[in-house]
Amino acid sequence: ELPDGGGNTLRVKKYGGRFWPDFPSESIIGVESLLAREDDVILVSYPKSGSHWVWEIICFLMAGTTEIVVADKEVGMIGLVRPELLEAQPSPRILNTHAHFELMPRDVFNKKTCKLIYVTRDPRDVAVSYYNNHKKLVQYYSYTGHWKDYLTLYLNGQVDYESWFAYTRGWEQGIRDNPDLLVHVTSYEALHYDITGEIYRLAKFLGVEVDAPLVEQIVSETSFATMRQTKGAREIFGGVRPSSPVMYRKGKVGDWKNWFTVAQSEQFNAVFDQEMAGTKAFELYSH
Ligand code: A3P
Repeated sequence: ELPDGGGNTLRVKKYGGRFWPDFPSESIIGVESLLAREDDVILVSYPKSGSHWVWEIICFLMAGTTEIVVADKEVGMIGLVRPELLEAQPSPRILNTHAHFELMPRDVFNKKTCKLIYVTRDPRDVAVSYYNNHKKLVQYYSYTGHWKDYLTLYLNGQVDYESWFAYTRGWEQGIRDNPDLLVHVTSYEALHYDITGEIYRLAKFLGVEVDAPLVEQIVSETSFATMRQTKGAREIFGGVRPSSPVMYRKGKVGDWKNWFTVAQSEQFNAVFDQEMAGTKAFELYSH
């Protein structure tokens, strides 16, 4: 139970000294030793960065068609699904995780041909999205606190998957220190402003052929409105409120401006400047 300073608590799972969602312990234990395959495609992101969106795009690209029903992202989630079930999946596997760089399956770094897709997002929009997620999406957190207190929890990394800042620094440094890793870096904002260009770039990275009609179909099938309607109505995994539209809440860039007060914005900037000095995140989210 993590107290938010306002009299409410956020419930997370503590395992190995780290904060996780309410995932099975054997799945969490198995993350580090999961066996990778040369042709694995792995989507990596801090929560609420647009991973369901990118998952849908990747699955269509790998299938070469939009005439499929994409499996729920949770089916390929490292840390949630038991390792033996991930190991039973046919190749090429499409996996995803919110694990920090240092907690990734070590074998991913031995198999130099795994393809990693790293998605980042403005940490202020992530904060707002995560707040709604903690409050309304998953019952386990049983969080009934208020935005102003939540923001402090988030800035202190007192949430599952912990600090956005540590997560982002860890991945930036991990990518920098391992130049032979195959990583495609993208962002929620890049997808939002140039979805067509991003789909072509993803296709190139994944080594799949696409033509303009297919790209257009993917744009349409993965639009916020379509995904909200087709995917948002389903129960996603145990503990998610059925028919919750919260996973497809707003789908905007800059919604944080509707939530942060001037004082909260200053509080955020001070933490950001201190935590992210000397990183590339500055260029992406300068204020
Ligand atoms: P908001 O809460 O700001 O609306 P994740 O999938 O990593 O959990 O991220 C969820 C965020 O991505 C939510 O942000 C959600 O609305 C947004 N999102 C999901 N599908 C999207 C889509 N097809 N287009 C744009 N945004 C999408």
